[in-house]
Amino acid sequence: MKNFSFYTIFLLFLNLMTIMNSNAQNEIFKEISIRDLNDNVVKLIADDWMLITAGQIDSCNMMTASWGGIGNLWNEPVAFIFIRPQRYTYQFTEKEEYFTLTFFEEKDRSILNFCGSTSGKFVNKISETGLIPIATDLGNVYYKQARLVIECKKIYSDNIEYQGFVDKSIPESVYPKNDFHKMYIGKIIKVLIREN
Ligand SMILES: Cc1cc2nc3c(=O)[nH]c(=O)nc-3n(C[C@H](O)[C@H](O)[C@H](O)COP(=O)(O)O)c2cc1C
Repeated sequence: MKNFSFYTIFLLFLNLMTIMNSNAQNEIFKEISIRDLNDNVVKLIADDWMLITAGQIDSCNMMTASWGGIGNLWNEPVAFIFIRPQRYTYQFTEKEEYFTLTFFEEKDRSILNFCGSTSGKFVNKISETGLIPIATDLGNVYYKQARLVIECKKIYSDNIEYQGFVDKSIPESVYPKNDFHKMYIGKIIKVLIREN
């Protein structure tokens, strides 16, 4: 009985969060076409950095990334990301169908520094950073603080391998321990930009 009550309250809380989140999406963010994105995507990823998040609000993980891209492949707008298997986030990108990329204003750089130097294996990065998670219609996670959100559906993934490099100086300098990334290509299914 005690467990049932707790579970009921938990479900009510989740429902409330979902309603609040969808309001937040409508009030703070506007959906745009990826073709209307004005940012320079090289600067966006390399300099501003992003959070890669996979999972749902009650079970997700996020990490900072500065390698990746946004482009056009197999007649779809896509984003591609690179995650080392030792990252806790990898467990989520492996099992989940979707991932999100979230970009922030300079004032939130400390969030990216924290999520890029601490593992979700050991700490709850949401409570430690004050990130406020919001669920997309599909239940994927982005954050109230974000200025740009890109929601992706995984369409291809593969491990980076030494033999694939034409320029062997890259694995020799970037991967001296042969700890290659896994690449994920996601079809871009939604883009939200902050309006307020
Ligand atoms: C600026 C920056 C960029 C990073 N880019 C990547 C990346 O593209 N791929 C990757 O696997 N790790 C990258 N990292 C490292 C992860 O963010 C870091 O190891 C993180 O703590 C992993 O968290 P997790 O174990 O909770 O997944 C980057 C870190 C920083 C600070």
